[in-house]
Amino acid sequence: EIALTNNIVWHETTIKKEERQERNGHKSAILWFTGLSGAGKSTLANALEQQLFQQGKTSYVLDGDNVRHGLNKGLGFSDEDRKENIRRIGEVAKLFVDAGTIVCTAFISPFKEDRNRVRELVEEGEFIEVYVRCSLEACEQRDPKGLYKKARSGEIPEFTGISSPYEEPNAAEIIVDSDKQTVEESVQAILDYLKDNNII
Ligand code: PPS
Repeated sequence: EIALTNNIVWHETTIKKEERQERNGHKSAILWFTGLSGAGKSTLANALEQQLFQQGKTSYVLDGDNVRHGLNKGLGFSDEDRKENIRRIGEVAKLFVDAGTIVCTAFISPFKEDRNRVRELVEEGEFIEVYVRCSLEACEQRDPKGLYKKARSGEIPEFTGISSPYEEPNAAEIIVDSDKQTVEESVQAILDYLKDNNII
């Protein structure tokens, strides 16, 4: 037992991550999708999970809009709130890894520092950054939720890519060009990565 502050002690669980992974027949990991709004993070995370699920893998998707309705209800889009949003999601994702799950997270996560902090929460190789690369022009053209239009008119302040920054990853494990590749091609590239790295 490791003593923490305020009389809280960390209990080692009896079932180990490795035992869960062994029973599942694959390793656990975080597939961290990052990219601009409308780049296709959720679409890809869900399409990938469909394949993993069909193959009998233990997987789960944590998605931006959904998490913001529950766990992170009350957080907005200031730099500070985005940081806290990502910190909490990182901790939850780590629990999923401990539970033996392949967890796909779909959040803009615009700050390099916040993404790297999540990377450091888990073991080497367990954090797989997937940069869903797409030009701002293409995202704005798609504008599936009409948010870019609102951001341009000033109705939404601090909108990523318009009035709030997006810091591109410089060492993403996987880059997907969503304005050039099809969803199927991108999903296949991610599955290949997982196989090549002995995750699945
Ligand atoms: S972040 O930056 O990682 O904390 O953002 P995330 O939790 O992924 O939430 C992004 C979705 O929220 C909607 N939205 C905004 N995005 C960016 N900037 C501002 N100001 C904003 N306001 C609302 C938007 O629908 C994002 O969804 P996606 O799926 O990324 O398009």
